[in-house]
Amino acid sequence: MKQFTVTRMLGPHPFSLFPNPRAGTPGVVVLPNGGFRRAKAEITGWAGYAPTPLLDLPALAQGAGIGTLRLKDEAGRFGLGSFKALGGAYAVANLLTNALARSGVAAAASSADLAAGRYRAATEAITVTCATDGNHGRSVAWGAQRFGCRCVIFVHATVSQGRVDAIARYGAEVRRVAGTYDDSVREAARQAEAEGWFVVSDTSYAGYTEVPRDVMQGYRLMADEAADQWTGPAPTHVFIQGGVGGVAAAVSVQMRARFSPAPALVVVEPDRAACLLASAELGEPTAVAGDLDTLMAGLACGEPSLLAWQELERGAQAFMAVPDEAAVACMRLLADQGVVAGESGVAGLVGCLLAAADPAARATLGLGAESRVLAFSTEGATDPELYRTLVSSRESHRLSNRLAGS
Ligand SMILES: Cc1ncc(COP(=O)(O)O)c(C=O)c1O
Repeated sequence: MKQFTVTRMLGPHPFSLFPNPRAGTPGVVVLPNGGFRRAKAEITGWAGYAPTPLLDLPALAQGAGIGTLRLKDEAGRFGLGSFKALGGAYAVANLLTNALARSGVAAAASSADLAAGRYRAATEAITVTCATDGNHGRSVAWGAQRFGCRCVIFVHATVSQGRVDAIARYGAEVRRVAGTYDDSVREAARQAEAEGWFVVSDTSYAGYTEVPRDVMQGYRLMADEAADQWTGPAPTHVFIQGGVGGVAAAVSVQMRARFSPAPALVVVEPDRAACLLASAELGEPTAVAGDLDTLMAGLACGEPSLLAWQELERGAQAFMAVPDEAAVACMRLLADQGVVAGESGVAGLVGCLLAAADPAARATLGLGAESRVLAFSTEGATDPELYRTLVSSRESHRLSNRLAGS
């Protein structure tokens, strides 16, 4: 693993880069295309569906010394503020229709039936639950409200009150537990077992893959839209942030499905919660210790999702870890470009800009003046107060001034 210090675009920030020695080797099909076709047909039929924009950022591309830089902006997704609206809510709809079929209430209910309340008496008796650092829980709560079941969401100690309130607004009961995100995952599983609730998790583990697979099939729509919106020669590189790895794996699969050759995928995590990078270094899924105390709350995950890892262990070209300070600087940089991006939404772009400013990283990743990069801003201001604080804080101004002078 190499440590670099860079000085352009975002200011100097140390980062880690690990080229994946197993990139491109054959492996299992984690997300079959039939499942994606169903997810796409379903989600694009929901009231309020519209593709999110793909933004061209020529000034940033020029500053980074690359040919093209485009950013898929998820801030407006279904009014929920993040791409997660595509995953959890879709998994709730599937779970309810499957439960109705199993119990003999309806052999093939559609989510439109559920949204219209046709089976409300049966669905109201079902409780869905999950752990969340904010965005996934909001999606599950929204899906539960939309499709008519009860919802209990678990959050860990440092999830902001703003995010808790946003979940509660969709009618969910929110319970706070001590510890990290991973502790809240275990608590949700324990309560679900005791109460007979259904866990709608965005992370998968041995024996629990069906629901997170649906979640990831939903995420693929974001990457599919980006491929539809992409004009000109195909992207050469994709930078995507990783928490448990679900969205990175979904993007990896969909890029391979849409572009041949597939662009090089770079997974970017906070340096305080880089479990995917650690797993790549070890050659098997591994947990990272510590309190995972990163500002990028959505990425504060210490254990990879099993399914995600099965895709990324060969689908990712490289893994990066970046510091919180660079994420804040990137939020400001984007704000200056008129783009509202939250702290967990910018890591991929941070990785791109830091790597592009470093000669050795450019060489390692094959980044150059002809490169065409796709990145995803996976959330807007999902906690508006925190967003305002971060983009207008003294520290941010200091970073911004340094940028202007660099
Ligand atoms: C805004 C945002 N981006 C990215 C992620 C990472 O997704 P995953 O945990 O599937 O890697 C999250 C997870 O909560 C998130 O909220």
